[in-house]
Amino acid sequence: MIDDIEALKEEIQNYSISNEEELEAFRLTYLSRKGKITDMFSQMGKVPNEKKAEVGKAMNAVKNLAQDKFDTRKVELQRKEASDERATDDVTLPAPPLSVGSYHPLTQTMEEMKDIFMRLGFSVAYGPELEDDFHNFTALNFPPDHPARDMQDTFFIRKDEQDEDDLVLRTHTSPVQIRLMETEKPPIRAIMPGRVYRNESITAKSYCLFYQVEALYVDTDVSLAELKETLITFARLMYGQDVKYRMRPSFFPFTEPSLEMDVWWEGKGEGQWLEILGAGMVDPNVLKAGGTDPETYSGYAIGLGVDRIAMLRHGIDDIRILYENDLRFLEQFA
Ligand code: PHE
Repeated sequence: MIDDIEALKEEIQNYSISNEEELEAFRLTYLSRKGKITDMFSQMGKVPNEKKAEVGKAMNAVKNLAQDKFDTRKVELQRKEASDERATDDVTLPAPPLSVGSYHPLTQTMEEMKDIFMRLGFSVAYGPELEDDFHNFTALNFPPDHPARDMQDTFFIRKDEQDEDDLVLRTHTSPVQIRLMETEKPPIRAIMPGRVYRNESITAKSYCLFYQVEALYVDTDVSLAELKETLITFARLMYGQDVKYRMRPSFFPFTEPSLEMDVWWEGKGEGQWLEILGAGMVDPNVLKAGGTDPETYSGYAIGLGVDRIAMLRHGIDDIRILYENDLRFLEQFA
């Protein structure tokens, strides 16, 4: 008897269960009501009384063995099935690296410039890139035969016989000054960031499009001293307290007097002065064209070159690289 039980035990131990079918076959063979274990217990009657305890113990051990084997394999098989289904969903695996983009250096610079002007009390306004001749030139006091209207500099989109309805890609952000004055009453204190276009030959120093941030302040008694104060504050906030700067008299049709500001760039080898902006007191004709009374109000305007300021900041010596979308360049600004 004991030998039979030992044989059954070995049979159960060696039974291989590798799928649902084999698990069910195992259950039917050993654990069901007509299975070998029930059969084995039914032999108990033939066992002599003095052996009953020993044989019963052996039988129970075999029964437990079969039940344990069944339970364990069942759980293991279920788990395997689940993990086969979601083989790619193993949450314990390290995550694949995410490739996160970054802001373009021009955007970063423009954001910094915006932050500085907002600290100085300026709001932000936008205008169209496709402008009419009136806003881009006439209202800004460009004489009819001014060279900037020449095909050399301006991308004309639609040319009108009388020049009145010409559509151009704006050559600067100054037309937004007019649009602001047309819709708002002074005091106006706003910056106007955006893209501008010029039909120039493409070199390391010039590109057919670039970015400007325009600033306009119109109120009663706005003075040149205030303009200079604002420019110096901007330069210090942008380049640091000990920035070296200079202002030179200049000329623009829409400001009088006009000036340009340079900052000193250490650069490679010997340093040099680099122009970062043009500015001036808004010409009375421009105030008038925007519907603002020049007898009551005065103002200053600034036009900052974003590309120049970004190049200066990062030591970039070729403007074209800002527009080529070369990842080897862009990834340095992450
Ligand atoms: N609009 C001028 C330019 O593009 C810059 C400028 C703006 C100068 C405002 C003075 C005042 O060159």
